[in-house]
Amino acid sequence: MSHLSERPEKPVVGVPLPHESAALHVTGAALYTDDLVHRTKDVLHAYPVQVMKAHGTITALRTEAALAVPGVVRVLTGADVPGVNDAGMKHDEPLFPDEVMFHGHAVAWVLGETLEAARIGAAAVEVELDEQPALVTLDDAIAAGSYHGARPVMVTGDVDAGFAESAHVFSGTFQFAGQEHFYLETHAALAQIDENGQVFVQSSTQHPSETQEIVAHVLGLHSHEVTVQCLRMGGGFGGKEMQPHGFAAVAALGAKLTGRPVRMRLNRTQDLTMSGKRHGFHAEWRIGFDAEGHIQALDATLVADGGWSLDLSEPVLARALCHIDNTYWIPHARVAGRIAKTHTVSNTAFRGFGGPQGMLVIEDIMGRCAPLLGLDPMELRERNFYRPGQGQSTPYGQPVTQPERISTVWRQVHDDGRIADREREIAAFNAAHPHTKRAVALTGVKFGISFNLTAFNQGGALVLIYKDGSVLINHGGTEMGQGLHTKMMQVAATTLGIPLHKVRLAPTRTDKVPNTSATAASSGADLNGGAIKDACEQLRERLLRVAGSQLGANASDVRIVEGVARALGGEKELAWDDLVRAAYFQRVQLSAAGFYRTEGLHWDAQTFQGSPFKYFAVGAAATEVEVDGFTGAYRIRRVDIVHDVGDSLSPMIDIGQVEGGYVQGAGWLTLEDLRWDTGDGPHRGRLTTQAASTYKLPSFSEMPEEFHVTLLENATEEGAVYGSKAVGEPPLMLAFSVREALRQAAAAFGPAGVSVELASPATPEAVYWAVESARAGGTRPDGGGDDDGGGVAVGASVLSNA
Ligand code: MTE
Ligand code: MOS
Repeated sequence: MSHLSERPEKPVVGVPLPHESAALHVTGAALYTDDLVHRTKDVLHAYPVQVMKAHGTITALRTEAALAVPGVVRVLTGADVPGVNDAGMKHDEPLFPDEVMFHGHAVAWVLGETLEAARIGAAAVEVELDEQPALVTLDDAIAAGSYHGARPVMVTGDVDAGFAESAHVFSGTFQFAGQEHFYLETHAALAQIDENGQVFVQSSTQHPSETQEIVAHVLGLHSHEVTVQCLRMGGGFGGKEMQPHGFAAVAALGAKLTGRPVRMRLNRTQDLTMSGKRHGFHAEWRIGFDAEGHIQALDATLVADGGWSLDLSEPVLARALCHIDNTYWIPHARVAGRIAKTHTVSNTAFRGFGGPQGMLVIEDIMGRCAPLLGLDPMELRERNFYRPGQGQSTPYGQPVTQPERISTVWRQVHDDGRIADREREIAAFNAAHPHTKRAVALTGVKFGISFNLTAFNQGGALVLIYKDGSVLINHGGTEMGQGLHTKMMQVAATTLGIPLHKVRLAPTRTDKVPNTSATAASSGADLNGGAIKDACEQLRERLLRVAGSQLGANASDVRIVEGVARALGGEKELAWDDLVRAAYFQRVQLSAAGFYRTEGLHWDAQTFQGSPFKYFAVGAAATEVEVDGFTGAYRIRRVDIVHDVGDSLSPMIDIGQVEGGYVQGAGWLTLEDLRWDTGDGPHRGRLTTQAASTYKLPSFSEMPEEFHVTLLENATEEGAVYGSKAVGEPPLMLAFSVREALRQAAAAFGPAGVSVELASPATPEAVYWAVESARAGGTRPDGGGDDDGGGVAVGASVLSNA
């Protein structure tokens, strides 16, 4: 077996190929879960009975009127569940609840011959509720002391000593919003039962194995009686990591009870009102710097808005804590976390999985403190980077490998983006324009790759070679547009030494590869690529022995390149198809199961210490914005990104991921504004942004006018398949540079050196208020927490001057 990162002659990985389904995507021919309905006979349609109150106990649920609706076949309620009435891995998520926990909670599902019949039936179900007070916002929950259980604390060094040694100490609070996934394809499932009672569920899920597990629990079956398939998703972004399970279980339950195929697909408003989002956070922080602006100590508490049930909130919070350092060395830190329990949807994974929230806190601190330290924000950031040769570790005790890459990508953005020149041009522009200001900001990203929970870092594959030389690959990962399948085909073709057209990929199914992890944490290509490579290497070894005997050479001297086997130095050639046929007649096994586990990881969730990540993905971005001083309206003039994907498996796919990630991050930080009705009226707790008309997503008009994305070159990652690095999530966090540019542009409306507080999302309205505050001299993070006795044990010259 060759080394994991080593590439053979003429590899298919590294070739810029279009997405394997690109033509199908753009012609509308690609099939998604719900498209299968039209190919399935006798389908029943499932429609949720949503209760439009934020909190209350159900005192009566009457289905008679619904059953009288023509076309209504059955109403599914808790009494129908043969197994466990729970849709979550934490067993705190009743599938058919007795208590309504958020506005729009589904308490029953109606099955109809048509969607329309099911809809009318759902409206006819009568639900009586003993209404109770609802905690809608993070502030409500914190004030009421309403939390889920977990209370992680991450400590490194001696925080009190660190503050004592600090020349400047600042503190502040920061509350920022979550984000709606807004995948194009809403949650969908289609379930069928065969003559043996075998359940087959097609689901739009990032985690087919877990969907299988939950469907089995709900139906009271074993896992081998349930098969889950995912063709592809029209986007997942983390929103389909845990949330699809209950929907799949509803469809499967309906199919089991009626013996007919059952389909469910949420319409957009149902999806928006029923499914969890990125967690908004509340952060309280205190930070100490030495006289030169080096961080000495950080004390922070992060509270995530978990919503009504736990879902993935614990690991999301863990990743937030593990990313509060971002690219910065923090010698002394104490970071505590909590999960607030609110009467809203259960918040869940979203690209970055808590990492963006942790990193946003430190980037906000840097942006606010730089002026108070009398430093340019770029200078403050760069001064605090992890440095090579210092043996520096993260606050959770993992040594930072390749710290020099942080400075490398940063310098490359700085130089290729002509930042120094442009800063001069911007200063001249600003001096000449009292009502319009520009700014450019540079921020970096360091993101840990692997699941924090070590066990999840495994992948499986099943590779089949048919007699005619064609190859079919199966792996445990799911395709959601990120290009995983394209990469996996490239890996298989590379390892076998054959052209790409010989390789086809079968839809992800739990009966081909068992016990898979979610396609998440950006690790899809690492884990499944490792497994495919393993399976293909086994097959290649067998075929090389056959080839050796045919070519009269040692197997170890044979290479298969572009579908032709040759012995080193030999003239004779053996075509792949002939080789495979020969192997078949020699009764050589032409299928292999592959497996991969990431080595060298350990994590102690109790002490919050360990080395949970295989490596770090890094990147840097510079964004230039222009802000209008009358309205706060802004545009992104230019973006320059250098991102580290190791040796790319598929450069076009990776550039697409970097661009898409950046834009999605910019959406979160600047445009997308989730609002709930927080008043005490009858609609308390209702999501008011429940359509694309009220929830502003990035569109073409918000794209950067100039957008330069470069992948770091010669970046072989020794620890991952063919030297590549994960790419799915890290680029989202490059969008911090937009937010910081907006802050700096707002500051430019005020006197020099003001510290500007900026809300997140930094909508034009929020930017306008930041401009106003800059004009008024800025806001000053201070040492005024009530809980720490005023906290002004501060050697802070800047503060005492205040
Ligand atoms: N890209 C597209 N087009 N659609 C998606 O849903 N999800 C992101 C990212 N890129 C997503 C995407 C998220 S949240 C993750 S974790 C990774 O892709 C998952 O895929 P990977 O592990 O294969 O990178
Ligand atoms: Mo991604 S948030 O890990 O699905």
